[in-house]
Amino acid sequence: MSYLQLIDLKTHFPVKNSEPIKAVDGVSLEIVKGEILGLVGESGCGKSTLSRTVMQLIAPTGGRVILNGEELTSLNDDEVRRRRLDFQMIFQDPYASLNPRMTVFSTLAEALRTRQPHLKDGKLNQAIAELMERVGLDWRYIRNYPHEFSGGQRQRIAIARALAPQPKLIIADEPVSALDVSIQSQILNLLKGLVADLDLTMIFISHDLSVVRYIADRIAVMHFGKIVELGESEQLMENPSHDYTKELLAAIPRIRDRT
Ligand SMILES: Nc1ncnc2c1ncn2[C@@H]1O[C@H](COP(=O)(O)OP(=O)(O)O)[C@@H](O)[C@H]1O
Ligand SMILES: [Mg+2]
Repeated sequence: MSYLQLIDLKTHFPVKNSEPIKAVDGVSLEIVKGEILGLVGESGCGKSTLSRTVMQLIAPTGGRVILNGEELTSLNDDEVRRRRLDFQMIFQDPYASLNPRMTVFSTLAEALRTRQPHLKDGKLNQAIAELMERVGLDWRYIRNYPHEFSGGQRQRIAIARALAPQPKLIIADEPVSALDVSIQSQILNLLKGLVADLDLTMIFISHDLSVVRYIADRIAVMHFGKIVELGESEQLMENPSHDYTKELLAAIPRIRDRT
């Protein structure tokens, strides 16, 4: 059964005295519970707009988003806000998405309280300790601020924060694109393990097919606002049918093949 269903989703941005930008232009997709769907395409093809539309952060120009049988596009603002705890995002730049004036402790406490407003004292500490352990952060960093961490560690904090409301769906938008290659695989392995252990479903977005192929069960290739090819990762990599997918494949740096 499909967990998330996008039906002919369109997000167009009006442009004065000109044609609108068709950032998302008729996307239909089904995502199964527990899978990691990779969304790949070059910069500007509409990946982030698609994810923001799925999250109901932008109202679609047309089409429908159905989560677990419920049509999100028909909910009012209050209902959307409540539902949004079920889906969380992880972004490319954790430094921009984390509050620089909040310690790890207060960042995670705030995120936990979105779902459990009365959590405090021992229970709060325990929940924070569990989150930190899940993402591989030592408890001794609890009073540190974002600028005191490396990029990879900061992304771990952002991942812990996304997990705090116990989401069901995570959209990770270029989560490793700003990290060193050696750190990238650590974060990819972490995300893969979390999806399996916590029974999550994930949309993993990247412009880099070699990264997507590493983590995704299926891959959707996006080009100018449309999904031009969709398939099982291995199959799509070995036997791409669309010319654009072939182009993306050819663009993977050879050096990656050795790792
Ligand atoms: N808020 C916006 N207003 C107008 N145009 C936008 C807006 N957001 C994105 N776009 C345009 O939509 C297209 C897709 O952008 P985006 O979704 O960010 O692509 P990607 O994430 O694949 O790089 C681009 O042409 C971008 O300039
Ligand atoms: Mg983007």
